[in-house]
Amino acid sequence: MPYDAAMIGVFDSGLGGLGVLADIRRLQPRADLVALADQAHAPYGDRPPESVAAWTHAAADHLVGLGCDTVVVACNTASTVALASLRAARPDIAFVGMEPAVKPAAGSTGTGVIAVLGTTRTIEGPLLASVVQRFGAGHRVLPIALPGLVDLIEDGLVDGEAAGRLLSARLAPALEAGADTYVLACTHYGFARHRIEEVVGAATVIDPAEAVARQALRVHPEAAAGGGTLRLLT
Ligand code: DGL
Repeated sequence: MPYDAAMIGVFDSGLGGLGVLADIRRLQPRADLVALADQAHAPYGDRPPESVAAWTHAAADHLVGLGCDTVVVACNTASTVALASLRAARPDIAFVGMEPAVKPAAGSTGTGVIAVLGTTRTIEGPLLASVVQRFGAGHRVLPIALPGLVDLIEDGLVDGEAAGRLLSARLAPALEAGADTYVLACTHYGFARHRIEEVVGAATVIDPAEAVARQALRVHPEAAAGGGTLRLLT
């Protein structure tokens, strides 16, 4: 039977989207996937929102042009600044975005203190404020930006000393405050999870990548009839 279903596109500034991509592939090996990393402009986390929005729209247009009718914005920074305008611009395309996982964190914390780790743009952005307002009631939510960590991950230096120093310094206030749940609100940070766990010990680390992958497959059930192709673009 000829196969002509549209593909799922996965977009990030860089390597972070590969975590979500891998989860989609694992959950549905037949999905036809295209991943696009905008490494010409990465990292996005400290760049002006207007620039991030323009790059994100250009990337989405590129993926749609390749035949994607579902686009996963596998970047919290890009989701924060551009998800709403993407949906408004292309109502014919299903956009799946990232959202800081404060809701599951609120359900699992014992101390009531939750740390949310993200880029500067995500930590200061309206999306985090909105989920904290909706799901964080009765809890103490500590937003923590980790500028520099994405660069170390992009450069393959996540296992080096600089990453350890950065995490020890930036996470110390959360440890002191009694945070027992750490939300990864940057898709790159999944690749630093083992380093974060070295610092936070037995605390719970929540990575929403798999939940987002499941959502992508829910809105794109045709993936089950795909050919299992994969294109990686940068
Ligand atoms: N992986 C992205 C995120 O989730 C982008 C990080 C960056 O480019 O600074 O925010």
